[in-house]
Formats: sequence, C-alpha cells, structure tokens
Amino acid sequence: MDFVGNHIISVNQFERADVDRIFSVADAMRPYAMRERITRVLEGAIVSNMFFEPSTRTRVSFGSAFNLLGGEVRETTEVKTSSLAKGESLYDTARVLSGYSDVIVMRHPEPGSVAEFSEASRVPVINGGDGPNEHPSQALLDLYTMREELRNKGRSIDGFGIALIGDLKFGRAVHSLCKLLGLFENIRLHLVSPPGLELPEEIVAELKRRHKVVSFHALEEGLHDVDILYVTRTQEERFPNQKEADRYRGLFRINQSIYTEHCEPNTVIMHPLPRDSRAQAQELDDDLNQNPNLAIFRQTDNGVLVRMALFALVLDVVDEAHNHAQPVTWHTAKRHHPLGGRP
Ligand code: NCD
Repeated sequence: MDFVGNHIISVNQFERADVDRIFSVADAMRPYAMRERITRVLEGAIVSNMFFEPSTRTRVSFGSAFNLLGGEVRETTEVKTSSLAKGESLYDTARVLSGYSDVIVMRHPEPGSVAEFSEASRVPVINGGDGPNEHPSQALLDLYTMREELRNKGRSIDGFGIALIGDLKFGRAVHSLCKLLGLFENIRLHLVSPPGLELPEEIVAELKRRHKVVSFHALEEGLHDVDILYVTRTQEERFPNQKEADRYRGLFRINQSIYTEHCEPNTVIMHPLPRDSRAQAQELDDDLNQNPNLAIFRQTDNGVLVRMALFALVLDVVDEAHNHAQPVTWHTAKRHHPLGGRP
C-alpha cells in the first residue's frame, strides 16, 4: 500500500510486503527508542490522541512514539469531557480535529466508528481500536514480537505453531492478528476458548484457507505442540451485563505449574495486556514473571518501535528521520539499566 497520507484502519489494507516494510522501519527506530540517538524530524507536527475507551499502553506508546520523532501530542481521553457528549457527530469532530493536527489516533467503542471518522478527516487517521472489531497496531507489534522471538530460536513465522487462548469472540487484538496471519504460510493454530467465546466464524473460515486450525474448549488440551501461547483477557466491557461476564472469570488460568506440565520447553508466552491480575481472574499468573519466555514486556517495548514506524511512513519521514540524528547527552537510566532496556 502507499502509506503516505493514508489512514490505517484495518490490517486488511496490508500485503505481506507492507508488513515487511513496517518491520524494517521499526527496526531502524530502535536507537531512538533506546535513547541512543535523538531525532527531531517531526518538530512542529501534532498528533491528536483521541481515546474514547480506557487505554494505558496504546495511548501512551503512540504518544511516546510521536514525541521520540520530535512531535507534539494532544490528548482527549473521555467521551464525557469531549463534545461527543453534547451530541456532536463523528463527522464534525473529525472536521474540527483534523484542522488542529497532522495525524490522529482514535479509539472508540463502536465497530466501524474509526473508519467513519476517517472519511471526514483531512489528515491520516490510525485506528487505536474500534470496539471488538480491529486493533491494527497491536496486531503489528504482536507479529513483530513473534518474528523476533522465533528468530532467536532460528525459526520464522511461516510454519510456526500458536495457541490463541481466552476470549476470542470479543478480543479485537486477536481478530486483527488472525487477519495478519493470513499473509503467511502453513501456520498451526490452536483456538482455545471457553464455550461461547469462540473466534467469529468468518475469521476461522479465512484462517482455514491457508492454515491448519484446531479448536479446543479445554485449556490444557490446547497448550501442547505450539511455539507461542497468545493469552487474552476476558473482554468484560463487551458483555451485555456483568453477570454474563462473571460466568467466564477465572475459567482459563495459566500459571507456572500448568506451563511446566503442558507446554513444550521454552514456549513463548504473549498477551496484548492488560492482564487481569485480580484474584478471581489471573489468566496469566504473576508466578510466570521470572519465566524468561514471558515476552509480554518485550511486546510493549516493541509497540513503540512499530508505532514510530507507522507515523514515519504515513508522514513520509522514513529516511529524513536519520539525517540529522544527534547523540543523547543526558544520563539515561534506560540505557544503563542492567536489563539494558530489554526485559
Ligand atoms: C487490548 C485492547 O484494548 O484491545 N489492549 C491493548 O490495547 N493493549 C487488549 C485488552 O484490552 O484486553
């Protein structure tokens, strides 16, 4: 696709070459994210971060990514403090906001809302999650992390095995990820969800066109013979009421002893986060924190690289970003930390 000046709404926009391009730009962003060098290439540019649903890492990492390229961030984080609460249409909001900014990142509870918003926007819009529908930047950073984790083991995305676990019905990150996996070859997928939270039929059908897909309702049965576990939170906010959501709370829990008993040695553990660490939930137990295969914080670190890449591509500064880069002059704890910034 041509990235320059265009919206990023769905992973369906990408071909495999586009994903490769995003990942190679993301690789080149690492020195800035690691505070080894500084670029001011987006000096004077403004991103409007409009998050009308809860978010921590997506919002802050898009903002940090823009700051790391030298740009400024404006934020709106609640419907009730925005003019949407006064009945303003997405069309009007888009016309107004795009006058104030050079690019907009938007999260909204309604499927299709970000696409609708983008049609009225005069600047590129990046989908930060539209209800249960899609979350393209999350899927890209997940795939980027998978590629790295597999590469460390001498493997590639083509031909690997993955278990997708938990709420596959409402999880937008997993929906986008499945669509992206359609660009690769011969993947073995275990779809592991409680009855009622299965992956939507049309996404399963699409996956089956290229890959080997097996569905499970029992957690332990789905954990065998894969390279990566991709665990998801029950998306309680998408259920008609709390009572419905409570039926699923704590049904699927992975801890170190389940991992040791049922997974292949060195199976990578991923999660888009946040994990639900309340005692009743615990889909990914804290006792896995010392397990070196837990890649969840490598995912969040990689999110900054991938989001920098998206901004650089859409605003057409990929090469320019490196031209006037400077060394960092302050003491950066990030670089001097024993973990080297790489958890
Ligand atoms: C995900 C989301 O919002 O869809 N979180 C995120 O952006 N990293 C997953 C979730 O909320 O469970």
